[in-house]
Amino acid sequence: MSQTYGHFDDATREYVITDPRTPVKWVNYIGSLAFGGIIDQTGGALLCAGDPGLNRITKYIPQLPASDFKGTTLYLRVTRGGKSRIVSPFFTPCLDPLDHYECRVGLSYQKIISEIAGVRVAATVFVPPGEPVELRNIEVTNIGESNVSVDVVPVVEYSHFDALKQFANADWVPQTMMSEKLDLGGGQMALLQYPFMRKDGEVNFLSTNLPVDSFESDRKRFLGSNEYGSWRAPEALLGEHLSCYEARRGDNIGALLIPLGTLACGESKRVVTILGQASRGEIVGHVGRYRDPAAVDAAFDSLMSFWDNYLSVFQCQTPDPAFDSMVNIHNPRQCYMTMNWSRYLSLYQLGIGTRGLGFRDSSQDTMGGMSGDPATALGLIRKLLSIQLRDGSAMHQFYPKTMHADCGDAAEEPEKGKLVYGDDHLWIVLAVCAYLKETGEMSFLNEQVTFYAAGMPLPERESATVMEHLQRALEYTKTHTGRNGLPLLGYADWNDTVNLPGDAESLFNAFLYGTALLEMMELCRHLGDGKLAATYQTDHAIMAERVNQVAWDGEWYVRYFTEDGQPLGSIKNSHGSIYTNAQSWAVLSGFAPRERALQALDSVKDKLNTRFGIKLSGPGFNRYEPEIGGITTYPPGAKENGGIFLHSNPWVMIAETMLGRGDRAFQYYCQINPAKRNDDIDLFEVEPYCYPQNILGDEHPQFGLGRNSWLSGTASWTYQAATRHILGIRPGYDGLTVDPCIPSAWSGFEVKRRIRGAEYRIKVANAEHVNAGVIQLAVDGRQIKGNVVPYFDSGTHIVEVLLGCRKVRQSQPANTPELSPV
Ligand code: GLC
Repeated sequence: MSQTYGHFDDATREYVITDPRTPVKWVNYIGSLAFGGIIDQTGGALLCAGDPGLNRITKYIPQLPASDFKGTTLYLRVTRGGKSRIVSPFFTPCLDPLDHYECRVGLSYQKIISEIAGVRVAATVFVPPGEPVELRNIEVTNIGESNVSVDVVPVVEYSHFDALKQFANADWVPQTMMSEKLDLGGGQMALLQYPFMRKDGEVNFLSTNLPVDSFESDRKRFLGSNEYGSWRAPEALLGEHLSCYEARRGDNIGALLIPLGTLACGESKRVVTILGQASRGEIVGHVGRYRDPAAVDAAFDSLMSFWDNYLSVFQCQTPDPAFDSMVNIHNPRQCYMTMNWSRYLSLYQLGIGTRGLGFRDSSQDTMGGMSGDPATALGLIRKLLSIQLRDGSAMHQFYPKTMHADCGDAAEEPEKGKLVYGDDHLWIVLAVCAYLKETGEMSFLNEQVTFYAAGMPLPERESATVMEHLQRALEYTKTHTGRNGLPLLGYADWNDTVNLPGDAESLFNAFLYGTALLEMMELCRHLGDGKLAATYQTDHAIMAERVNQVAWDGEWYVRYFTEDGQPLGSIKNSHGSIYTNAQSWAVLSGFAPRERALQALDSVKDKLNTRFGIKLSGPGFNRYEPEIGGITTYPPGAKENGGIFLHSNPWVMIAETMLGRGDRAFQYYCQINPAKRNDDIDLFEVEPYCYPQNILGDEHPQFGLGRNSWLSGTASWTYQAATRHILGIRPGYDGLTVDPCIPSAWSGFEVKRRIRGAEYRIKVANAEHVNAGVIQLAVDGRQIKGNVVPYFDSGTHIVEVLLGCRKVRQSQPANTPELSPV
């Protein structure tokens, strides 16, 4: 068995890393996009405020070796019996073996506890909700057998706020970087850092609640010997004091020497460091607030209340502890992070240049985070609607600080009527409908939202109701079709990397359109607009017929047609002959008749499934082919080219539940559950407490290796697959549908679901060991017909559910599309 680096501690809702030398850095998120970033298990942090590309704070370079200094750290100078030692309680950069180490990866906090040189350090790092400061609450205890004197030295290495320039211009950047001491009165100081052009605007600051002996702001002086001194042994720490140099150029750091004085055996002292960004006038307030450690504790408690509330909307107890751990803690946490950070900042996605918040990605992210935090989801949905164009299509991404939008990698200009990403605009239909079902806030449909028009002042832009936005989205796809009457691909659809020239057609877009039509039909019926519902039903039937006429390939659905009508994702193709999404979405959209649905999903199992997850497509292209696109830049087995692209796995799970195959859906769930990879982690390499975006497929020599952890649509969709489809607790317009599709081995499970002001304690019994089929349902002791629990305004309600194989189910589950005939 390979080595493990930690374990889950569900009681504290933490993952505990017990060896700092993980295969790659394992990170956590603190704060939000407004102020925050990632922090790794060795205390390094990449922080930004509002924009990781244009307002970066710390210089964290993921490409450097793991042993290097990254962004932030902490040194201790420990003097015992007249002898001093410089140590790193976070392991890097000194790398001396620690007598004890644990990093508790918590809910928006990181707690590193370590022991070295007879001193125990417990440091909790977090951002108080809504504030522009990172706090490090550091408790130092003398666990040795004699008195010890300890100096605490927090260090930050700053980036120019323009992260790209930091790397692009090695003269301009250092010529602009300034540091300065700010006296805060009462013996308190902050060390400021800012590029010259920001002197009177927002500046970075590092401070502490204790008196500071001295400081350093210049990296060269701190390391010494013209930087032939190193982070591992900074020469400045050999002297009694730091030089108190206020840098006027160069590579700026912030280092504070904070003497704790003498600690008797067993004695503890606490110091709080405060790293933030604010205007000069605000700094004294930020630092003053946290001078009192009780305020730090209160800030931490308020962060925990947020998470208690967020997680309490859905808690389950099933026979599978790894499932429960993910569904109750880690997966919803990841959903929250994707909803906040989109694909903007991670260890792999650095928010520099042309990557903003994606229309498609964020629409899907809201669906994972909205049950716990509907207000944030709503805010994001509004922004997304505001970058939709008048014709119904959408800009591909936006930058939240400016609300400027563009089309990312596609060099096209959608405003000139050119179709760019053929799928983007359709995702918002799914997001809005999910929001309405979750909250019941139907008035949102009448809210006016402007359409995007670059360069035009907001008041002059055309606006329309949210309902109209959704209708235009559908209309756009309906009227942008190719030679087979299927929706055009544009530059790309969900799969960014297949970029076929000309007017190629996309089956994914057809299926997503079908799914959006199903949602709109349901919405219109709920609104009592039978006419519009009927129109959408006709559109759905028309597209279903086209798809089934031209895209069924014998054992599966093809994925694309080129401009001249050649299929891709067909048995006729030697590479890329089958694509997962064309099968799962054929089912999700209700387009696949049952026989084809079963066959298509069986083909996925036979041709694309591996023990580490389902591949996106196969076989991989084995040479670069620009006319096919970015997919061919990867070797076979990597990323979209035959890799296990995790985002598409939960769609297969959902499709399997729609066909009632709970054992298979659950097998697919388990094989990508990162918690289950904890014991072969040297192969998987990435964090076992969140989903990565991709795992190398079986055509690759490193089959099983994960990458691009955290920011992936996998989070939202796996959460949806687990909660709404496997456990089957689905919010609808009129009630909570209970329609589990579980492994037959389970005797039952329990769920607590809070929604629209009431809590439902749902107990499902499966004595007959079936996969699906509600045969009895009681609410507060009274039997009801069907499997939809009506919404209550308040209180706790007991829901008892019996699964079984009585021939006729009590009702058709609300979300199961009617499968159309061929
Ligand atoms: C990345 C993108 C996402 C896209 C996927 C597949 O995850 O963020 O938008 O759908 O790759 O290409």
